[in-house]
Amino acid sequence: MIPLHYQENQLLMDGVPVAELAAAFGTPLYVYSEALLVAQARAFIAALPPGRDHLICFAVKANGNPHLLRRLFQAGLGADVTSGGEYFLARHAGCPPQRIIYSGVGKTGPEIEAALAGGLRALHVESAQELAVIATIATARQQVVPIGVRVNPDVAAETHPHISTGRGHHKFGVNPSLARELLHQVQQHPWLAPAGLATHIGSQITDLAPFAAAASTLVQLATALAAEGIHLRYLDVGGGLGIDYTNETPAPSPAGWLQTVATPITTAGYSLVVEPGRAIVAPAGVLLTQVVYTKQQAEKQFVIVDAGMNDLLRPTLYQAHHPIWPARQADDHPLTTVDVVGPVCETGDFLAQNRQLPLPRPGDLLAILHTGAYGFAMSSNYNGRLRPAEVLVSGQRYQLIRQRQTLAHLLDGT
Ligand code: LLP
Repeated sequence: MIPLHYQENQLLMDGVPVAELAAAFGTPLYVYSEALLVAQARAFIAALPPGRDHLICFAVKANGNPHLLRRLFQAGLGADVTSGGEYFLARHAGCPPQRIIYSGVGKTGPEIEAALAGGLRALHVESAQELAVIATIATARQQVVPIGVRVNPDVAAETHPHISTGRGHHKFGVNPSLARELLHQVQQHPWLAPAGLATHIGSQITDLAPFAAAASTLVQLATALAAEGIHLRYLDVGGGLGIDYTNETPAPSPAGWLQTVATPITTAGYSLVVEPGRAIVAPAGVLLTQVVYTKQQAEKQFVIVDAGMNDLLRPTLYQAHHPIWPARQADDHPLTTVDVVGPVCETGDFLAQNRQLPLPRPGDLLAILHTGAYGFAMSSNYNGRLRPAEVLVSGQRYQLIRQRQTLAHLLDGT
């Protein structure tokens, strides 16, 4: 499902020609479809099993634009946050505290304080030392803090090694026996309350088997804890559902994924929490970029564009494949094998390698697809480059939802 189509050879996002957006706001430019964003959020919510207190927490790290977050929360999603900054963004965009969970291996004392002051559904603890810090803060505040423990289930998932998180030797969560011990500590503490168990095995996973394995690890552990007198409310299987970047490995639908993880959890009597990020926002976003030059060098045909690895890091960091479509279909552009590269001074600064494209010319516009997740969110000022603007398309209308940075940002960060 993508929000793009050609009409009389012009590429449109929903009802708006992308060339019109580039002319109005310049490039590089992130553009999002409100219709698809909201449809994705609703597809997840509609696929939740009936009853109980189930919750879809959008992983704010995938895209923290306040306007997009507001729409997702209005559609009924909660938030999975991983820093004081993301907690602030979620609250600022109207997420009710009861729908916020806070994960992350390195929450600091001040971050924990701020989240407790603002309220949340639970803190997801990832180490014994972190639990001790939370206990001290909870006691000082005389506030009962709901605790979930993040379990490392030692489950292997087929994905890029940098975004696999559920193996025993990864830094995330704690092993099942320590999780059990920590929840006993929580149960005995006057200002801590056991709330749930969580896990997250990685990202861009298109095979359902590791998710089923992770859900069953949580259920087994929760069952063992119940026998010991610790009764949890929810089990959280994290995010990680992949999308179709290439059409080679079709990804499961939100409904298929939710059914896999929900069945064991709801059958055992727990409410379900999930934390999808990519599957909700990635397909709704494109990065528009303009061709600056082309050049032939050795056996390579380079297309040099005005977006670089500082705007979209995924190809460089994970060798990720993002489809690239021209904004105008032209018969006189011969299909050519090209490398689409940015202006940054690194050989790793590419957006596509050995890609068959109608050979563009300087001034032509290209759309880089499926960039709504971990696109703008991972952008930087590297090489003195300004972070791009963001635009939201709503049917035939559009609005700027983040200004392009100006040179002043390079001076003092304001
Ligand atoms: N929950 C937790 C605790 C996470 O760490 C993550 C992602 C998610 C949920 C959301 O996962 P998703 O549904 O989006 O796969 N920068 C990488 C992805 C890193 C994901 C980190 N954690 C990329 O561009 O592929």
